[in-house]
Amino acid sequence: MEISIIGAGYVGLVTGVCFAELGHDVMLVDNNKEKIAMLKAGKSPIYEPGLEPLITKSIKNKKLHFSTSIPQAVKFAQSIFVAVNTPPRQDGTADLSFVATVSKEIALAMDGYRLIVDKSTVPVHTGEKVAETIKRYNKHKVDFDVASNPEFLREGSAIDDTLYPDRIVIGVSNKRSAKILREIYAPIKSKFVETDINSAEIIKHASNSFLALKISFSNSLAHICELAGADVEEVTHGMGLDKRIGKSFLNAGIGYGGSCFPKDVAAFIGISDKLGYDFKILKTVEDVNMDQRKSFIKKVEDTLWVLKDKTVGVLGLAFKPNTDDMRSAPSIDIIETLKAEGAKIKAYDPQATQNAKQIIKNITYCKNPYEVAKNADALLILTEWDEFKELDLDKICKQMASPIVIDGRNIFQKSEMEAKGFVYKSIGR
Ligand code: UDX
Ligand code: UDX
Repeated sequence: MEISIIGAGYVGLVTGVCFAELGHDVMLVDNNKEKIAMLKAGKSPIYEPGLEPLITKSIKNKKLHFSTSIPQAVKFAQSIFVAVNTPPRQDGTADLSFVATVSKEIALAMDGYRLIVDKSTVPVHTGEKVAETIKRYNKHKVDFDVASNPEFLREGSAIDDTLYPDRIVIGVSNKRSAKILREIYAPIKSKFVETDINSAEIIKHASNSFLALKISFSNSLAHICELAGADVEEVTHGMGLDKRIGKSFLNAGIGYGGSCFPKDVAAFIGISDKLGYDFKILKTVEDVNMDQRKSFIKKVEDTLWVLKDKTVGVLGLAFKPNTDDMRSAPSIDIIETLKAEGAKIKAYDPQATQNAKQIIKNITYCKNPYEVAKNADALLILTEWDEFKELDLDKICKQMASPIVIDGRNIFQKSEMEAKGFVYKSIGR
């Protein structure tokens, strides 16, 4: 089938490449000319494992096309997926201006039936607004449908999440659009949830908010464990084996970041307020998440006493491993606070350094973890990259001015670290 995707960011690009992998003919459109030029040359504008080889392969097979023109995309395919960004506004609610502009441009270019599918994370009732907009600018008065098809891909495992999802959710208003979407996804073996558009839109916000809630719950547990002399890893392991609770997303740490959880929890609170319900639990989820960064900073302050002129090494800057994404990364707040207190920061991340340099200034970016550790008064672990789990810890210990490790992601065992001579602090144990 022919499919167009508007917005070649993390979501649109991965979705487009995976559709091409499934055998569809895909046109990816973005208004960022440099991004499109890069993609045409077979280069991925983002670091995502396995993505670039699939881009080159699909270009070669002529399954993947790129453009900066929405009219061209509308001409190319009957199904048009919208995956432009929906950034948070000052009050936390989603800015839908890109979705609105793109909807209008699609409508103006439609010369026959089109299915417009929203992939971006949007507040409930956006489908209705998109349909109204398209109706308003539908010059040729052609037939059209609007549908919702939220994505659940995680950065770092985006391709697998797209090709082997736990479920595919489609929100539709009639059988015609459901049939097209089922055909598009036919090659994927997965549970299919077909529902109304409003429910599909809420499924996305509810899923991300619930996962954020699990993380904040574990982070609260971590405090209880520290106060009570228990180990949060043991506690969440014991809880997670209960299938009703589930093992995933119970890792305590420095809190969630990224382009989705902080934005989506805030947006869901905003939607609820607007609808007339005070979603108190989610407000606490946010508070606990922000407190987690502060309590980590306090741990550093308590351990190092005076921060002025201390050298603090940081391993990991990205908001999670296997990505170069720095959006809402906890490392930003943590480093800025320590810097403001006079600490000298040396940092290393396997992939996010380029992006980090645009955001975190006046620190020393190092080429490897050992350079970070050299003469450092403490080493902080802020992202759980596999590379850090395999470090030569004896070498690190010898190189440091004082062998203190404060691990925000619990990647090491306390007993092993202490046996090696480190002062080792982690979260909730
Ligand atoms: C974004 C949202 O953050 C997420 O909530 C939603 O589910 C999908 O879209 P992401 O793909 O990570 O996720 O965003 P981003 O990487 O910023 O990509 C959006 C792309 O759309 C950018 O490449 C941007 O240039 C493009 N865009 C934006 C357009 O082509 N036209 C526009 O009018 C606006
Ligand atoms: C998330 C959702 O998982 C995905 O379904 C949605 O489509 C987009 O948003 P993403 O933000 O890419 O994906 O990464 P995710 O793996 O969910 O991690 C988000 C944040 O939560 C990271 O900062 C991570 O470090 C943190 N996290 C995750 C924890 O602190 N503990 C955990 O147990 C899991």
